[in-house]
Amino acid sequence: MGVLVIGSIHADFYVKTWKFPSPGETVKGSSFFVLTGGKGANQAVGCARLGVPSYLVSAVGGDDLGRMVLRDVQSKGVDVSYVHVDPGTHTGVAFIVLNESTGENLIVVAPGADDSLRPEHVERALTDLQGRVRVLLTQLEVPLDTVYYALRRCKELGLTTILNPAPARKLDLGILEYVDFLTPNRVEATQLSGVDATSFEGALRAAERLTELGPRVVVLTLGSDGALLVTRGSAKHVPAFRVRVVDTVGAGDAFNAGLAVAIYEGMDIERAVLFANAVAALKITRVGAQSVPDRREVEEFLASRGELREL
Ligand code: RIB
Repeated sequence: MGVLVIGSIHADFYVKTWKFPSPGETVKGSSFFVLTGGKGANQAVGCARLGVPSYLVSAVGGDDLGRMVLRDVQSKGVDVSYVHVDPGTHTGVAFIVLNESTGENLIVVAPGADDSLRPEHVERALTDLQGRVRVLLTQLEVPLDTVYYALRRCKELGLTTILNPAPARKLDLGILEYVDFLTPNRVEATQLSGVDATSFEGALRAAERLTELGPRVVVLTLGSDGALLVTRGSAKHVPAFRVRVVDTVGAGDAFNAGLAVAIYEGMDIERAVLFANAVAALKITRVGAQSVPDRREVEEFLASRGELREL
């Protein structure tokens, strides 16, 4: 049994700098490198690193970048048999400016093959994997009809569904009926609920509103403030762990991978959010969206913070 991840795969072109440029300004960067990224691939790698069989349904172009990212994700333990190759376009790329003084980033994505992922690719994977996956984890970097199809079909097949509604997009809210766990950040929660989630109070109201639209659980991520865990009738704040921030790219993906693994393993939801917070905390101490800790590192980290017994 394993986790099915449906989403994007990218080549992340990183440039490090000490200062973000203003519009029209040129600043000198300190280094340049290319790593594998994309929210789908990052989350699939996260699940594999945390010890759970992970299947990725995604799309690449018929180019060297596509071959490179596929090889890389496979070497990290992800089953890539269901990654579609579209020779008519380029592999998705992300241009990332990483601010070395703050760990913050600016990202622009050119989706390329992300847009080629169709419901039939999802169906092919589900037909083959039926009985071998019990959790679906998906995001919004691929076409919405594909995401909707995946959520409906996976619910029909009895999987637990997790939607990480990133990046923020306008959704048909009816789809939230097919979502068990919804994991927006403040911007995404605002977009979906129509309630401004900038303040803590606002975030709580936005999450409550979202639970009325279908999801059993809303986990609203608050960056360095941790996460809000809201169900119909209960709400809990789970603070983040304090760590030295090096690179926040992929922090949300690491969190979602941690949450999916915890749900897959049947942890209770409060412990699952604590576990996910630990995975995200360790990720941001390292450069690269797929620098997700392995299971042993997460357990040692939790023990060092006095949390092992709770898990
Ligand atoms: O969430 C981080 C990811 O967003 C990056 O890896 C980048 O590829 C974009 O998809």
